[in-house]
Amino acid sequence: MKTAAIIGGGVIGGGWAARFLLNGWDVRVFDPDPEAEAKLAPVLAQARRALPSLTDVALPPEGQLTFHDTMSEVVKGAVWVQESVPERLELKQKVYQTLQAAMDGDAILASSTSGFTPSQLQGCATRPEQIMVCHPFNPVYLMPLIEVVPSPVTDLALVEKAEGILRSLGHYPLRVRKEIDAHIADRFLEAVWREALWLVKDGVATTEEIDEAIRMGFGIRWAQMGLFDTYRTAGGDAGMRHFMAQFGPCLQSPWTKLMDVPEFTDELVDLIAGQSDAQSGHMTIAEMLKARDDNLVGMMRSLKANDWGAGAVMNAHEASLRAGTVLGAHADELEDVSTPIQTVRRAVPLDWTDYNGHMNEARYLQAFGDATDRFMAMIGCDADYIATGGSYFTAETHIRHVDEVHAGAVIDVRTQVLVGAGKKLHLFHEMYEGERLLATGEHFLLHVSLETRRPSDPSAAILTSLERIATAHSALTMPEGAGRAVGQRP
Ligand SMILES: NC(=O)c1ccc[n+]([C@@H]2O[C@H](COP(=O)([O-])OP(=O)(O)OC[C@H]3O[C@@H](n4cnc5c(N)ncnc54)[C@H](O)[C@@H]3O)[C@@H](O)[C@H]2O)c1
Repeated sequence: MKTAAIIGGGVIGGGWAARFLLNGWDVRVFDPDPEAEAKLAPVLAQARRALPSLTDVALPPEGQLTFHDTMSEVVKGAVWVQESVPERLELKQKVYQTLQAAMDGDAILASSTSGFTPSQLQGCATRPEQIMVCHPFNPVYLMPLIEVVPSPVTDLALVEKAEGILRSLGHYPLRVRKEIDAHIADRFLEAVWREALWLVKDGVATTEEIDEAIRMGFGIRWAQMGLFDTYRTAGGDAGMRHFMAQFGPCLQSPWTKLMDVPEFTDELVDLIAGQSDAQSGHMTIAEMLKARDDNLVGMMRSLKANDWGAGAVMNAHEASLRAGTVLGAHADELEDVSTPIQTVRRAVPLDWTDYNGHMNEARYLQAFGDATDRFMAMIGCDADYIATGGSYFTAETHIRHVDEVHAGAVIDVRTQVLVGAGKKLHLFHEMYEGERLLATGEHFLLHVSLETRRPSDPSAAILTSLERIATAHSALTMPEGAGRAVGQRP
């Protein structure tokens, strides 16, 4: 079992704890605050609600979470030690002295620091080569980006190991080539923050107007294409060169305040805090965090469908979760096909529920459609085969809704082949949460030539794989409900 040690369990440490835990790691937390456990509980609850929604395959079973009184207890045997104590250099350096006295020499010691360079953190450490920055973004359990910053003395083999682990957690490790204060992303955020403070101070815009300018416009654009690709597309067919020729001269105009920083007077703080209250004081922070997570999940799931940006990271994570399981196997690799085959194991995502909080009717069909797709891929009717001109088309579907299910529940679909011969494929899916039957879905499909659009025989390889399962399943009893018409219920 892999163990992560979390040093400092505040906003960021709590997010790291949740990310590791929900990806099957054991997590040990050290935080001197007597309220540490109580502080982490809501972060974990938010993560349990949102993170499983990101992939269409269930995460592994959760690891074990424990709280400890000493750092040495926490780091003993840990593969990953994540420091997320307050942003004070001398505190972090002191903490590393204690950690390195007890932790394994080949474990990763990563800091969440937003501002310090790894060289600064390494200071007078016993083993500076073990220390790197892994700078996350809030909420750590949802945001993919981790800026990985080594110093010239950090062991690069350890950095590569860290990046592999981050990928296995669904993160996107971005290696920062040169250590600088505040790494890459916070440099932008600070520039934008500085401009926003000036706009409020000068009375040009309120906090709300600035937020609208971001979320109605470039914020959405940036989330999917970043800065340079967005500008490339803005340059038309001539791309980046045209864009630079067109907008480059603007940089000479005083559009921005550049490096000036407005003084944080009481008056400015009151002005901004007051406007912020007027803007969003009608919501609790907990309500805002829930909305934030729902929106992030929804946006990232859209990107996932396009295999783009943060969504492509989720797809890669999903592929690694499938690998080595029945959900990633070819049927011929399965030794025993005598019982219904698992074709789906996933959490019900947040955006699959309706106004009652139940899984929406259309999503039952989606889950069963996914099960059919998975079964087709399993017998060799995958994207590569379909590109050669053949596929199965669904001719008829019958779904029975047996019991309700809510967001976050892990559902399994098991698939029985009723007929698998020649052009015909007749499947019966059963959807469960644990041992509770939720729904059944019956599909009749015909293999079709994509050229003539008429029924045709599948490839010999597909037929061989299919008939092996069909023969084995012919010994099973006909499932209760198979072949029923609408309205016939026991
Ligand atoms: N808040 C953010 O958005 C954000 C984003 C990325 C990185 N970071 C970085 O993460 C780090 C932590 O920030 P945060 O926002 O979670 O702060 P926080 O104040 O929410 O949490 C810090 C935690 O550290 C604990 N702590 C204090 N002294 C400790 C010690 N000696 N040993 C162990 N724990 C101790 C505190 O009790 C507290 O729970 C900082 O370095 C910060 O720059 C913050």
